[in-house]
Amino acid sequence: MPDNRMHIALFGPPGAGKSTQSKFLLRRWPIVSLSTGKMLREESAAGSELGLKVRDLLGRGELVDDETMIATIRKWLENLPADKGFLLDGFPRTIPQAIALDEMLEELGRPLNGVVNLKLSVSEAVYRLGGRRICYGVGPEEIIHINDEDAVNRCLARGGLLVQRSDDLPNVIVKRLNVHEAETEPLLNYYRPRNIVHSVEASGSQEEVAQRIVEGFEPKASHTPKQ
Ligand code: AP5
Repeated sequence: MPDNRMHIALFGPPGAGKSTQSKFLLRRWPIVSLSTGKMLREESAAGSELGLKVRDLLGRGELVDDETMIATIRKWLENLPADKGFLLDGFPRTIPQAIALDEMLEELGRPLNGVVNLKLSVSEAVYRLGGRRICYGVGPEEIIHINDEDAVNRCLARGGLLVQRSDDLPNVIVKRLNVHEAETEPLLNYYRPRNIVHSVEASGSQEEVAQRIVEGFEPKASHTPKQ
């Protein structure tokens, strides 16, 4: 029987819309997802051992060390449901992480079959991140932009708080974009020989971007994505 489970890594610079698109894809496909950034922020807020270790790094826009991240992903993969695919948002980010992921997935017999590369200009990324706020304290977190008046009013009317991420300050945004270019972009060349990289223009509406991603994979999960 062909294995149609989606095994996807979502790439793209800070602000490209990885978390936003993860939500669309979770509704569309039978997958589970992990956002390593969100998980680290939650650990930090909870003051766990991991959270205390990474808090300063997150605030400076630097990467958490490979050893810690690989151990974290290993644990997550151990509990992967057999009947669902998976989507990794924010992992791997370095070549050592990519190599370790390959080894772990080979052990599971579930290799990556798609790398979605969201492409966004630096100016658009800076605009999105500079204006990003989290509507917090009223149900599941909602990510909005400060210039989206309707979304802002909806959040405030529900009694939510508009919170800015500590790594969305201007100097940290620049640092994160530089780290992405230096550490994470080279990973695309690591995956390209496998013909699994699907590059998608990440400007336009959220729905348009989601549609572009989906078109690269459907009707069959085994479809070879466009380079
Ligand atoms: P992480 O949380 O992964 O941050 P990131 O990669 O910098 O990405 P962002 O969350 O900022 O952006 P996004 O692409 O998810 O965009 P979003 O959908 O929010 O990681 C944070 C930190 O954790 C890292 O800096 C590092 O320290 C650490 N870390 C995580 N993984 C690690 C790893 N593997 N190794 C080491 N360290 C690791 O959208 C952004 C904004 O744009 C929002 O306001 C949204 O509403 C808006 N938006 C989205 N789509 C659109 C659209 N189509 N049009 C207009 N606006 C849009």
